[in-house]
Amino acid sequence: MVLFGGTGDLARRKLLPSLFDAHHAGLLHPSARILATGSQPLGTGDYVASLEQSVRPAHALPESWEKFCARICYVHADARVPAHFDALAEKVLSRKPGAVVCYLATAPHLFVPICEQLARTGLNRPTVRIVLEKPLGHDLESNEAINSAVAKFFGEDQIYRIDHYLGKESVQNLMAIRFGNALFEPLWRREWVQDVQITIAEELGVETRGDFYDGTGALRDMVQNHLLQLLCMVAMEPPASLSEDAIRDEKIKILKALKPIAPQDVAGNTVRGQYRSGAIGGKPVPGYLEEQGIAPDSHTETFVAIKAEIANWRWAGVPFYLRTGKRMPSRVAEIVIQFREVPHPIFPRPLGLSTQNRLVIRLQPEESIRLYCLVKQPGDTLALTPTSLDLDLATSSRARRAGAYERLLLDVIRGRLGLFVRRDEQVQAWRWVEPILDTWRNSMVPAKPYTAGTWGPAASSALLSRDGALWHEEV
Ligand code: BG6
Repeated sequence: MVLFGGTGDLARRKLLPSLFDAHHAGLLHPSARILATGSQPLGTGDYVASLEQSVRPAHALPESWEKFCARICYVHADARVPAHFDALAEKVLSRKPGAVVCYLATAPHLFVPICEQLARTGLNRPTVRIVLEKPLGHDLESNEAINSAVAKFFGEDQIYRIDHYLGKESVQNLMAIRFGNALFEPLWRREWVQDVQITIAEELGVETRGDFYDGTGALRDMVQNHLLQLLCMVAMEPPASLSEDAIRDEKIKILKALKPIAPQDVAGNTVRGQYRSGAIGGKPVPGYLEEQGIAPDSHTETFVAIKAEIANWRWAGVPFYLRTGKRMPSRVAEIVIQFREVPHPIFPRPLGLSTQNRLVIRLQPEESIRLYCLVKQPGDTLALTPTSLDLDLATSSRARRAGAYERLLLDVIRGRLGLFVRRDEQVQAWRWVEPILDTWRNSMVPAKPYTAGTWGPAASSALLSRDGALWHEEV
């Protein structure tokens, strides 16, 4: 594995720890090697020593960590210096033939120069796979420009566009729940589902990524990719098989069926917010405009809520409420399927409580699946009381659960494309979000402020209450 951006934040926070976990679990081939590259001229010894502090997990036993480090080698590679790539290629090609994974964990403007150099030095042969990290462009045009440039050197079956949400165990479990049980699928449609909510809330603010984030915003950072991918997994038709294109073919149909939000409907169907100072977990936190690297008059959104609709037979008329934000009260990612009321209620309604069934699939902080139902209240009257059927996925199986990046890295190594995003999916997702971005930009209406530690601007609740619905946490 050749890791471009080996000294960067992603490599240190996610990729190397995930590779260590795979190594520790015995999932890396004994001869697998990691060649980290970066623009700083470092020796392997210094590089590996630097990992001790920033990468080594607390659970790494000395022997296992040493063996992992012995797999690593550092090569100085600046994308503007062809000679660096000659040396790199020589090193890679001198090894026994086998799969080569080039992971581009760099700034996106380096993707094309790196691919050019890889091709020039023969590192685009069929056994080479490249992994492209998001963001892949900042709009449809720039996304297409990168994809077209990369396609000159690599076939689509060599390109792994990563969306780490697809590597989360519970996202795959969603497929298992839907298509492995006879119970849910017949109900998974407009006749029985009132609405679907997908939330990805973070406690964190923009941290040290202000420069990047201020030019990006939550719609590009989270909705265009993670939220729309989750929406596809919830809404797609059963694929004919588990083959990579069978699944991706179904996802693209959903993206194509997403009803475009016309400029005149953007204000009524979307909410964008920006956090102000507040408190999270009892600790004061600064507002977005006070964060490092943020323009003092920035309009960038740190919160988005959208009412989307899928125009097909299964979902016509069912609102899909999407929401994501930074500096929310807690870190939670979940999908909520809100079922309709029974057609003819015969029991007295429990006061102030919802009588609708609801399936809550929680991705984080813990993985769980909870089905809210009603049962009889003990006693001599036939009154109902809510209860839930719980599947606590973390404790229901003792099998080790790989993190999202580990799972996806192993998939690349094994040549499995199913959990990676195809080019047409990306194009379609950009096509859907771009008019929203344009309308926001042209409207000159600033993002609505919300206090850090709350669930976003009041307009987010209003978006649902107009339809008689409530966000799940607020119930
Ligand atoms: C990344 C975004 O893709 O996902 C970040 O760029 C965000 O802004 C992160 O914090 C969230 O991922 P997770 O897995 O921690 O929910």
